[in-house]
Amino acid sequence: SYPEGYAHEPTTEFRHHHEMRLQGETIERIAPTLSSANKIRVSIGQTLPESGQWSISVNPTDSTQVLATVEEASDEQVEAAITAALKAQPSWAHASLTDRATVLRRAAAYLRSHRLEINAVEILEAGKPWLEADNDIGEAIDFLEYYAIWAERLGHERLDSPAGETNQLRYRSRGVTVVIPPWNFPLAIPMGMTAAAIVMGNSVILKPAEQTPITARYIVQAFEHAGLPTGALCLVTGRGETVGAKLVRHPQVSTIAFTGSRAVGLDIIEAASQVVPGQISLKRVIAEMGGKNAIVVDADADLDQAVPGVIYSAFGFAGQKCSACSRVIVHRQIFDAFVDRLALAAGTLIVGDPRHAATQMGPVVDDAAQKKILGMIEEGKSGSELLYQGALPELNGYFVPPTIFINPDRQSALYREEIFGPVLTVERAEDLDDAIWRANDTIYALTQGIFSRSAKAIARAADAARAGNFYVNRGITGAIPGRHPFGGFGNSGVGFKAGGPSYLLQFADQQVISENL
Ligand code: NAD
Ligand code: ALA
Repeated sequence: SYPEGYAHEPTTEFRHHHEMRLQGETIERIAPTLSSANKIRVSIGQTLPESGQWSISVNPTDSTQVLATVEEASDEQVEAAITAALKAQPSWAHASLTDRATVLRRAAAYLRSHRLEINAVEILEAGKPWLEADNDIGEAIDFLEYYAIWAERLGHERLDSPAGETNQLRYRSRGVTVVIPPWNFPLAIPMGMTAAAIVMGNSVILKPAEQTPITARYIVQAFEHAGLPTGALCLVTGRGETVGAKLVRHPQVSTIAFTGSRAVGLDIIEAASQVVPGQISLKRVIAEMGGKNAIVVDADADLDQAVPGVIYSAFGFAGQKCSACSRVIVHRQIFDAFVDRLALAAGTLIVGDPRHAATQMGPVVDDAAQKKILGMIEEGKSGSELLYQGALPELNGYFVPPTIFINPDRQSALYREEIFGPVLTVERAEDLDDAIWRANDTIYALTQGIFSRSAKAIARAADAARAGNFYVNRGITGAIPGRHPFGGFGNSGVGFKAGGPSYLLQFADQQVISENL
């Protein structure tokens, strides 16, 4: 494995009766502990008066079920968190890279030992099917282990040091990092951003997504258990437009690690560029944003691979992945065969309650998402041809049927905008060049893929792809840290790839010490 000592965390084998039974029992045990009495408070390592403002987190599969009451941070609490983070940071930065890496490894051990419990929380809080929840925790563990190893490798780079002079490259911590994640990978994404900032000696204020605060609390618990000093990680809950906006505008924040929508990302980049008198650091923003990702199916593609690859990429976690496939572009010679098989395969998807092991697609995350996606489907019907729409389960949750359009109106919102739901368009291409052009015809540049048996076609498509991650003869979701460093360019993001060798550099300033001997 590379780097030396890194090994991807295996998924839980739910095919085995024992694992399946244990996960089922854990869901039964955890579900009754989640209710409005489950209070999630701002947590900065000291007792604060309550803000008096609360919101609720509900189960998207059963919207009558409240899972937690969550504190909306007040302005005073935000200030207290910044003060605590500023106070904790210098001594944490003083700890050696090895000691900081050890904290990450201990946090990983904590997650491993709570895996089925965290899975259960994600199944209930985010509506994730079992495998999706389990992969999220696996990825969080991978980030911790991977960044721990890379941190220990930093500082050993050699600079040219001629006779009479020594030159040394060092990494200085930047100060306070604000971490603002989305809800769709509620453990892995905030954990990845937090772990990178922490291991580079920064303190972190984590403002979790409104939809998944219970999962986020495990991040704080993992680091507490790992021995991270008090104040080096503060949990500041609340709405993005208020609490998040205040944090990113704070003059004493030096780094903002954001993953989420393009609209919010652009707002943060703009806000971070405003400098107030006396502000000693210019803010650095790492922003990972959306996609409108395409898969090309070439004339000689193996449809036994292409059909399930497209189905999982489009409908896994109800299409709520930045990496999800929302457009398929099919060579005209196999268009009809592909479309017939795609509709049949979509018809076999098990849509329902994610508490059941067999469920392949659960609800979308909340009522706003449900309304938006259903609205886009209805609008889509006027310019594009509906090929398939699944049935909905009789549950009181935020369900959206898996939906496939063919011959889409290429100027429509359906075709141009990120839908972030289980909606797919399929279009015909004249030839490979036409398919490649169509795949790239978006402002986003996140993931893309091709199914083809021709080495030449694959090479041509890979060279032309305007996408941060390009996949060949496989689905386009499920990047694994260390194997598939992940992230886009274009309108999909600014920053080095998560789970890649350069990611940590963003959380430090480089300094060179040159000594005349
Ligand atoms: P979102 O942009 O609505 O919210 C993301 C976070 O930003 C949340 O924590 C939210 O509270 C906060 N926020 C909202 N408004 C804010 C503001 N004005 N100032 C500061 N913070 C604010 O996104 P979402 O719905 O949670 O997630 C879905 C989006 O995330 C999709 O666009 C998806 O493509 C993207 N995403 C990208 C990646 C990637 O790696 N590129 C990964 C996962 C998700
Ligand atoms: N890293 C996630 C994936 O690849 C977004 O699906």
